[in-house]
Amino acid sequence: MIPLRLEEIVDLGLGRLEVGRSGAVITGIEADSREVGAGDLFVAINTGREFVDDARGRGAATLVPDDQEAALAALASLVRSKSTARVVAVVGSTGKTSTKDILGALCAPHARTVWAERSLNNEIGVPLTVFRLEPDTEVLVTEMGMRGLGQIAALCAVARPGVAIVTHIGPEHLELLGAVERVAKANAEAIAALPSGGVAVVPAAASELEPYLEREDIEVRRFAAEDLEFEDGHGRFGVGGTVVELDLPFTQAHQAVNTLAALHAYDALGLPLDRADEGARDIRLSPWRGEELPLPGGGLVINDAYNANPDSMRAALLHLVERAGGCRRVAILGEMAELGDASEDFHRGIGELAVELEVEVIGVGERARLYGPVLWAADDERAVSAARAFLQPGDAVLVKASRAVGLEGIAQEIANFAEAWSLS
Ligand SMILES: Nc1ncnc2c1ncn2[C@@H]1O[C@H](COP(=O)(O)OP(=O)(O)OP(=O)(O)O)[C@@H](O)[C@H]1O
Ligand SMILES: [Mg+2]
Repeated sequence: MIPLRLEEIVDLGLGRLEVGRSGAVITGIEADSREVGAGDLFVAINTGREFVDDARGRGAATLVPDDQEAALAALASLVRSKSTARVVAVVGSTGKTSTKDILGALCAPHARTVWAERSLNNEIGVPLTVFRLEPDTEVLVTEMGMRGLGQIAALCAVARPGVAIVTHIGPEHLELLGAVERVAKANAEAIAALPSGGVAVVPAAASELEPYLEREDIEVRRFAAEDLEFEDGHGRFGVGGTVVELDLPFTQAHQAVNTLAALHAYDALGLPLDRADEGARDIRLSPWRGEELPLPGGGLVINDAYNANPDSMRAALLHLVERAGGCRRVAILGEMAELGDASEDFHRGIGELAVELEVEVIGVGERARLYGPVLWAADDERAVSAARAFLQPGDAVLVKASRAVGLEGIAQEIANFAEAWSLS
């Protein structure tokens, strides 16, 4: 981390600060006591208060904050104020983590780049990401999520992005926001936060965003699925007047769209489009975003169980059809959470899409009955039993649900029991 003088931290007056054996300069801030050593500051958040002594024993200074979110924000603002890095904020209804992972990998060969780990995207995760800034960091890619208005504005006040990517605008957190227009409004806070000369990368198709794109002092770059061709992991991407060809470690069309958004940001950062392929080889999507396992008899199981909303569900079903080729298509689907009053209609709509696409659905959990499944299971364990009874060699299987349903283990279990299939 960019070094902070201990007295600067004292001056912020954030709570009970104990210096311990750490010196006058702090070179790391962590919320996990197992990660700290001499010269670090341990901030006790959530249950972290129990580990203050542990952190001190490891030689770190410790802070028990009066208000943990305010303390993390103040510390991260201080670190950010000392950085010359270009900061990117990735926001949107779906695809943030994937786009962040793609952009980080594209930038890394050409600029000293830090990108958020996992899905760290809230009042805790964004500061923790900012704490990873080094004096020589040139690019910082952050992910910012929200559950209501004002949250992305607050995260931007800390990270101060110069480039904002809005990946997608669609139905999410409707139980809190009410309508897609308000989802757009909340995500557009990242556009409002841009400094003069900033760059907003937005989906051409998201008409709900247009009211927020009227600023004349920023550059707006619109990306659209029509600007790319993608087959079997090979893509041709139109970025401005340039065509960029990349080999990518995934086959989902929606991840190719995320890649196009990332390429716009990469270009806006001044990095060389003709060398984007160097980083493309090293893209690693975070777990459970479309990982594939082969099944006997030419089938496969796609683990896309990280999360689900109506748009990502639709994208995943279309991808299943594409990957299945001539195989039978089976989707093991849990509910899509946090959709408010329209939730039932969204579930029925996905059920109708599955029928249209000739995908057989195994539903998991009460709300998944609305998909009109051919088989239904109460929980993930019973879903594995249902799958064992239903699946055959050569099937193409998708596993997907909202995070809370917890279906991420199912794909591996299917691969395990399928090993015993006799193919004779
Ligand atoms: N552009 C997209 N369109 C539709 N679905 C997508 C898109 N990008 C990613 N997905 C799918 O949506 C799910 C979540 O992806 P990802 O984790 O990248 O999104 P996120 O916005 O970070 O989600 P969260 O809000 O949970 O942090 C995955 O199943 C992924 O395959
Ligand atoms: Mg995420």
